[in-house]
Amino acid sequence: MPELRGPAPRQGRARVSATTVDAAALDAADPLARYRDEFELPKGIYLVGNSLGALPRRARDYVATELDRWATLGVEGHFSGQLAWKDYHELLTGQLARLVGARPDEVVAMNSLTVNLHLLMVSFYRPTPGRHKILLEGHAFPSDHFAAESQIRQRGFDPAGSLVLVEPRPGEDTLRAEDILAAIAGHGDELALVLLPGVQYYTGQVLAMADITRAAHAAGATVGFDLAHAAGNVELALHDWGVDFAAWCSYKYLNAGPGGVGAAYVHERHLDDPTLPKLTGWWGTNKSTRFAMATEFDPIPTAESWQLSNAPILAMAALRASLDVIDEAGGIGALRRKSERQIDFLDRRLADQLGERVLNITPSRLAERGCQFALRVRAGDGRRVFDELERAGVRCDWREPDVIRVAPVPLYNSFADIDRFVAILDGIVR
Ligand SMILES: Cc1ncc(COP(=O)(O)O)c(C=O)c1O
Repeated sequence: MPELRGPAPRQGRARVSATTVDAAALDAADPLARYRDEFELPKGIYLVGNSLGALPRRARDYVATELDRWATLGVEGHFSGQLAWKDYHELLTGQLARLVGARPDEVVAMNSLTVNLHLLMVSFYRPTPGRHKILLEGHAFPSDHFAAESQIRQRGFDPAGSLVLVEPRPGEDTLRAEDILAAIAGHGDELALVLLPGVQYYTGQVLAMADITRAAHAAGATVGFDLAHAAGNVELALHDWGVDFAAWCSYKYLNAGPGGVGAAYVHERHLDDPTLPKLTGWWGTNKSTRFAMATEFDPIPTAESWQLSNAPILAMAALRASLDVIDEAGGIGALRRKSERQIDFLDRRLADQLGERVLNITPSRLAERGCQFALRVRAGDGRRVFDELERAGVRCDWREPDVIRVAPVPLYNSFADIDRFVAILDGIVR
């Protein structure tokens, strides 16, 4: 493996030097390089897996299998064989749990992200007149903001007094851990819930989830994370950190396709708590009596008790295809090791070729970043630069007000992709 000066440090600043290294040599030595062939990549340089992951080739087979089973078995498909649809979601549980550092009982694939956030807030946001606040970040993904606001209103409170927003300091782009912890402590007695992202969607910043969880619990609040940009991107240890709940989507780094089925996590200490309020449906009740059609809810003693409806099998088949590829590639640990090399490589390339013309507002410490870069063009109009990148065949995305997001995804992006991207950006910004 060609390295510049030994492996990139996992903590501390990612190193940048003027040394150049050959992308082709890095790709030739990359043990995960062959997984690129597991994907059908759109034309051009696809660096937008932070928004929609690429199509795993085998998803066509997995989905076709279910279409065939539907065509031949009809309704019997629910009960027949190893892929019986009534149990299909269980095929995903172990793999999803490993990705987020949870136990299988704590995880379930269901619904979509915002729906799951609502379902989990029904259980874990339990305001009282004295303790009713939800702490969010000021630049939360709008769906999270709306969900929290509407939960507050549903419980008879007013967001004006119950929504607490933590912001970066003036002139800064990212949140300081100490400011989040101080806000939690400051609102302590009134805080019911801390709801934050694992990885911030705009800046790519990884928040200090373990510290935040500890601080929230010390304040007497519950804590939940939106892992849309974290699942499949960075290593997580939800169970060991003691996080109460989390939800994520599968269409970004989990490559399950547009609108792919989401997932939820609930810490095991809550799984058999009969006092937890819950919205319920028939898919959350005891599997052995479900089809007896009894109307007494007998919760499954796992995160599955939050399920409402029977599962969207075609969407789950696509997700299963991607999770199988991730497992074969060695799981999130192997992906992250490659990702750290790619982060380091892109850091160096940007520093060498773009210098001060482009600013990456993503934190530079590896512990605080995943594979997404949030680039602000200093020399010129960022939106125009983005349009020109698109015209030149670079697939990335623009986020208002002024950031181009690019994400080299270790499962299918090569070092050559990064190299070509920087060369094209250099040509445009020059
Ligand atoms: C951080 C974050 N939260 C929430 C959402 C909303 O997800 P969904 O439409 O699947 O509910 C997204 C979508 O991209 C997101 O990036």
